[in-house]
Amino acid sequence: MRIPLMAGNWKMNKTVREALDFVAGLKTQLPDTSGVDVVLCPPFTALSDVGRAITGSPFELGAQDLYWEPRGAFTGEISAPMLWDLGCTYAIAGHSERRRVLGETDDAVRRKVAAALASELIPILCVGESLEERDDGRTERILQTQARIGTMDITAEQVGQLVVAYEPVWAIGTGRPATGEEAGRIARLLRQWLHEWFGEPAGGVRILYGGSVTPDNIAEFAGQPDIDGALVGGASLDPATFATLVRASAR
Ligand code: PGA
Repeated sequence: MRIPLMAGNWKMNKTVREALDFVAGLKTQLPDTSGVDVVLCPPFTALSDVGRAITGSPFELGAQDLYWEPRGAFTGEISAPMLWDLGCTYAIAGHSERRRVLGETDDAVRRKVAAALASELIPILCVGESLEERDDGRTERILQTQARIGTMDITAEQVGQLVVAYEPVWAIGTGRPATGEEAGRIARLLRQWLHEWFGEPAGGVRILYGGSVTPDNIAEFAGQPDIDGALVGGASLDPATFATLVRASAR
């Protein structure tokens, strides 16, 4: 059985002080997280302090991005071993904001996924179509390409650790989520493709939905058999709201 995962992607939000206030709040709100894994993805600048603050709690630490080389002359980049060293257990790869605003390619995402796994970090591989791609009827082709290239360098032994987040670009930060049914259909498709590429172990991959998830719509996604949690942006910034989402996702 797959344990649902709720990941809070804070994006470029919160100073260290604000991040620590959040953790204190979340600990009060969520004394028990049985039946769900909870991951906080603060900005790089707060990883160290958040990591210390959640030691001994059930919350885990995730990075919003990583670079694929372990070390070297790559000004401004952060490697998987550095993240592991701070206590990260997850790393997001290929978030649509990085793909679209910062020019990240499918090929770069492929390297990031492989680098994460090589350092014992669980990659959260994000895939999603834009509104234009959707209107042109290209959703499935785009998702299949992103998922295929993103997982190209991993083995059938590794695939069970993978997390894939379906995040339609038109739903992110727009207040216009996909319906549970739509997201569930895409999750099922993603699982079928993973099964074709990796065989049986693909059944262990956790598939998340992301894009305008709130306490009002979380039940729709949590109720889908192929959706195993959510990657949450805006609604993960407040401890009470995020705690509500976590509780609604426990199985
Ligand atoms: P949102 O962001 O929940 O604010 O729409 C989701 C994401 O980008 O992961």
